[in-house]
Amino acid sequence: MLAIVPLPTSMTPAEGHFTLDSKTAFHASGAATPVARLIAQDLRVPTGLTLRVTANKATKAVTFTIKADKELGDEGYRLRVRPEGVQVTAQTAAGLFYGGQTLRQLLPAEAFGKAKASGVKWQMPSVDIVDVPRFRWRGLMLDVARHFMPKEEIIKFVDLLALHKMNSLHLHLTEDQGWRIEIKRYPKLTEVGAWRKETVIGTNSGKYDGKRHGGFYTQKELKEIVKYAAARYVNIVPEIEMPGHAQAAIAAYPELGNLKERLEVWQMWGVNPNVFNVEEKTVKFLQNVLDEVMQVFPSKFIHVGGDECPKDQWKASPRVQELIKQRGTKDEHGMQSWFIKQMDTYLAGKGRRLLGWDEILEGGLAPGATVMSWRGMEGGITAAKAGHDVVMAPTDTTYFDYYQAKPTEKEPYAIGGYVPLEKVYNFDPVPSTFTAAQAKHVLGTQGQLWSEYIATPEHLEYMAFPRACALAEVAWTPMARKNFNEFSGRLAEHLKRFDQVGVHYRKLN
Ligand code: ACM
Repeated sequence: MLAIVPLPTSMTPAEGHFTLDSKTAFHASGAATPVARLIAQDLRVPTGLTLRVTANKATKAVTFTIKADKELGDEGYRLRVRPEGVQVTAQTAAGLFYGGQTLRQLLPAEAFGKAKASGVKWQMPSVDIVDVPRFRWRGLMLDVARHFMPKEEIIKFVDLLALHKMNSLHLHLTEDQGWRIEIKRYPKLTEVGAWRKETVIGTNSGKYDGKRHGGFYTQKELKEIVKYAAARYVNIVPEIEMPGHAQAAIAAYPELGNLKERLEVWQMWGVNPNVFNVEEKTVKFLQNVLDEVMQVFPSKFIHVGGDECPKDQWKASPRVQELIKQRGTKDEHGMQSWFIKQMDTYLAGKGRRLLGWDEILEGGLAPGATVMSWRGMEGGITAAKAGHDVVMAPTDTTYFDYYQAKPTEKEPYAIGGYVPLEKVYNFDPVPSTFTAAQAKHVLGTQGQLWSEYIATPEHLEYMAFPRACALAEVAWTPMARKNFNEFSGRLAEHLKRFDQVGVHYRKLN
């Protein structure tokens, strides 16, 4: 069985095998060379082979070629394996990279190992593959704010995304419970905001663990992550939350909040009333933050959150009420819309695009906004119908912080919900009622790893995998090709690769 995950668009087996051996060379030139180098590099350790990369023609070679081939679009590839040689062709380096990922999966699982494997024949079955992704947004979101994750774990996720031909890693960098990105102009955001005194046990039990928790990424570290990811065709989308989920920032700079009393970085979970005020100075502060964010992250999309912003403090604040009148924003929802529009205009002026959770629809959507629909599909449907791009990220199929198996008592403690593998697999990001024109606005989908109850890399991987494998197939494979039973068979083989990589996935039932 060819256990390629995600399943390619078309795959035709042929006779015989190609064998990687001491004479095998990778042949590439120009923009194809870095991709050939990367694929060869990943294979050298487990195979122990030289796998030199050469611009000269070689016999028995794996050849990477960029050439015009409209059917393949920006990310598709062709892969032809025969006993006498292997050809990967694509219009782009990204397409070649994905062809390279399929090539790795045609080899025995040991090809994913971190040490030289002995006694393995490095054979690939002959096959013809033509493969083009269904969606251009294929991603995961890591909440590194509720619980900080080491840089090495983010890098591991980049590798795991790339292995599944996923191309977007959304980093949720700021929260009530922690601010995780160095901002040079406002050092207290991390000096104060990156650390909480302790953390509540369970779901706001009233008991605390007594352990200081925190951490942040320097801009230098984040640039390293961005560079590593870019080489693997993964875009890092940064999220800076506003106007809600702001308590850590307000703890660092009290003038950003609505109250006189000092706040600490939050130690509980849930929706927090302490939101940013709506002063021009606060807007400017956050735009200055975004300036530094844009220097670190080349991503076209910059996420500004926008979800779960309770309006109680704005309702109670005479100053906010005065500003609602002055600005003619009608009410607090109008004020939130005003706030997001300031960011939309600002980001657009810098050549970027604003992305926000579906609450940014309330009070009127900013003209350039792209919507990430999490409270079901409704927000995404409304936005797409109004001509906006959307990413579908609904709770009931893409929230990987929810339980993945029953009985839930046997699973590690989670936030609730129930999102089993099959449900993820059968998700269709395009609502059946959509016209072709509306469907074009669905950029794709991503899985969410909120981390209130996920404190370690092992637990994070357990929640992510294998559900992310199912989502990769949602995002890549044509609907008509998908079948959960067939996928389950391939997945069992795929998990052997995870055993080699060292992924702490949840075992299949
Ligand atoms: C969210 O889950 N609050 C986007």
